Amino acid sequence: MDEPLAAWGVAHVERHAEIESTNTRAAALAKGNAVALPALVIAARQTAGRGRGANRWWSGEGALTFSLLLDAAADRLPAECWPLLSLATALAVNDALAERLPAERVQLKWPNDVYVSGKKICGILVEAPPARPPRLIVGVGLNVNNSLRGGPEEIRARATSLTDEADQHFDVEEILEDVVRRMLVEMEAVAQRRFDLTSRWDARCLLRGRTVRIDQAPSLVAGRCLGIHIDGSLRVQTLDGERRVYAGVVQSWE
Ligand code: BTN
Repeated sequence: MDEPLAAWGVAHVERHAEIESTNTRAAALAKGNAVALPALVIAARQTAGRGRGANRWWSGEGALTFSLLLDAAADRLPAECWPLLSLATALAVNDALAERLPAERVQLKWPNDVYVSGKKICGILVEAPPARPPRLIVGVGLNVNNSLRGGPEEIRARATSLTDEADQHFDVEEILEDVVRRMLVEMEAVAQRRFDLTSRWDARCLLRGRTVRIDQAPSLVAGRCLGIHIDGSLRVQTLDGERRVYAGVVQSWE
């Protein structure tokens, strides 16, 4: 068992050189009900990493990809808290990155992306697999030493990595431990209903003050983003008044 991770409360750790998807593996562990929780599944490479919706998540060598499997009941995270988990995780990643980069370059894009200098550096996928007792999976894909500089222009325009931003190599294990520790602290705050969402998120919100278009198929919400509501929804000033957006894909922000 990895000592620092055990010290933060992680009860089971699995490391894979290659796996389909850490979230898929965590779902299998949830079904089998045989490992102590929280459990961490880490992969050096995923062959079928999943993103939100039908998206795939591709991560090159040197990226950090892991999933944290939680016991929702033991961790006091009832269903009404679940929408906050991706926001809490994004804040944990934000704070870990802000220790390694100029903090003002790190921003959060509702509901679950972390951006640096306007480009995506981290995606988060929270899933509740069909398990009894209820389990939660928080998957994190963070570009660390996987430079995108040699990649296609369309990718370089939209995505970045820690090494590209800081021009140095990072210890992925150290970042894993830091992010997981921060995630567990944030989850505990969510469980204790003292998660300081609005002030911390709004200060780092990429969309705040911008005109956003949010796809809520079949409808579209458009307007000026006013920041985050305490319940985790996005506040949007539309022509018909303020709307709270609980789900959807942010298509554009200007
Ligand atoms: C997104 O931005 O759409 C979310 C991407 C989430 C990717 C991570 S990588 C670790 C975990 N395993 C997966 O298959 N997906 C998540």
